[in-house]
Amino acid sequence: MTNEDFFGMAVKSAEKSYSKYSGFSVGAVLLTEDGQVFTGCNIENASYSMTMCAERTAFFKAVSSGFVKFRAIAVAGGKNGDFSVPCIPCGACLQVMAEFCDDDFMIVLSDGVHRLSDFLPKKFKGENL
Ligand code: THU
Repeated sequence: MTNEDFFGMAVKSAEKSYSKYSGFSVGAVLLTEDGQVFTGCNIENASYSMTMCAERTAFFKAVSSGFVKFRAIAVAGGKNGDFSVPCIPCGACLQVMAEFCDDDFMIVLSDGVHRLSDFLPKKFKGENL
C-alpha cells in the first residue's frame, strides 16, 4: 500500500465523522505491527469537551481489541471535503501515541510522512512514574 492509498483511507474514514459543531471532519487509519487496520473519526458532543479525536478513537478501538503494537497512522482533517492542509495530531493524541509507539512511529498526513518524534520530541512515559 502506498502512503497516498493509506492517506486516502483516512479521508474515507472522515466520512463517518460526527462533527456537527465544528464542521471539521477528521478520519484516521491505524496500522498494527501485524498489519491489522483500525479506523477512527472525530466524535463531537453538545458538551464540547466530551469530544473525542479521530486518532484516539482508532487507538482505543485497537487497544480494546487486543492490539498494542503499531506501525503507522494516517490522519486527514478538513472542512467541506478539503483535506489538503495537514491535520497535525493534537497534544492529547500525541500523548496516547507515546504510550504505545516508538519515536519512529509513522504519521502520514496530506503533506507526506512524519515521525512521532517530529511532533513530540520529549515524552512523559510510564518510566517517569
Ligand atoms: N480533531 C481530531 O479529531 N484530531 C486532531 O488531532 C485535532 C482535532 C477534531 C476534534 C474536533 O472534533 C475537531 O477536530 C475540531 O477541533
